[in-house]
Amino acid sequence: MQLKTSSGRINKPAVLVARAIFPEVLQTLQQHFEVTSNQADVLWNPEQLAFAAKGVAGILTTGSERIDAALLAACPDLKICANMAVGYNNFDVAAMTTARVVATNTPDVLTETTADFGFALILAAARRMTEGEHFLRAGLWNRWRYDMLAGAEVHGTTLGILGMGRIGQAIAKRGAHGFGMRVIYHNRSRLDAVTEGVCAASFVSKQDLLQQADHLILVLPYSTESHHAIGVAELAQMKPTATLVNIARGGIVDDVALAAALKAGALAAAGLDVFEGEPRVHPDLLTLPNVVLTPHIASATLRTRRAMAQLAAANLIGFLLHGKALTPLNALQ
Ligand code: DGY
Repeated sequence: MQLKTSSGRINKPAVLVARAIFPEVLQTLQQHFEVTSNQADVLWNPEQLAFAAKGVAGILTTGSERIDAALLAACPDLKICANMAVGYNNFDVAAMTTARVVATNTPDVLTETTADFGFALILAAARRMTEGEHFLRAGLWNRWRYDMLAGAEVHGTTLGILGMGRIGQAIAKRGAHGFGMRVIYHNRSRLDAVTEGVCAASFVSKQDLLQQADHLILVLPYSTESHHAIGVAELAQMKPTATLVNIARGGIVDDVALAAALKAGALAAAGLDVFEGEPRVHPDLLTLPNVVLTPHIASATLRTRRAMAQLAAANLIGFLLHGKALTPLNALQ
């Protein structure tokens, strides 16, 4: 899609990089495109994003930029939005398809890293690691006591997984093969028998999942269907000794209901990397000792974040220069 002018100069397509990214990835993009970048990492509102995106053929987004009908109407030259995230609830894919704008995400490159972090949250919440650290830092550790900060067992217990895509499967393998756990899962569709075997995971109803899991981890995409998939009714079905971990998206858990359950002792502990309305965190969660809170960093290793940025850039290059995105979410090519 490179255009030659009458003087023989190549006109590169224009792209917008909506947030700060690795300088070397930006340089790669600059070799192929006229790039407008936001390396200052200013958080744009929708109008500012639409203004910056006027006339560009592609945008490299992160999960923070909403691409919807209004943005698409304001940017008629847009051909592709490449999200630097596997989750894409910031995209209105139906509106993008109607506007014939390709949507891409970054699957696979973050699977193992994100699964590691999910497991770390299970361990940290169940074994009260941050609570222990706060206790120590506050100077409260003055002797050994038989039940001091005693938490829940992880190995040999039942791991429940809600959402059994790539990351869910990677967590299942860690639980089954690394920690000797019985792994149960619930998903919109059941895995084939071979994949279930590799993951050593059994399909159960959502109700059985809630009732049987000692540690329940959420790895499903956010959508209107999964909004508050874990709310008052679901929390009431869980064991009071259980741990709940959310590394998927804020809004899948009703944070107010969760805080109330943790406060009342209806649930032992939680580990949360994502929040409703993040980066705000519900104040009730901030005051509770039995919840481990992290700022949406499950995929945050430098190697993985670099791979995500490179894949997003490769999607822009692949589609705008060669007509083929690597990891499309809609079938427009
Ligand atoms: C993703 O890839 O969806 C993560 O949540 C962003 O880091």
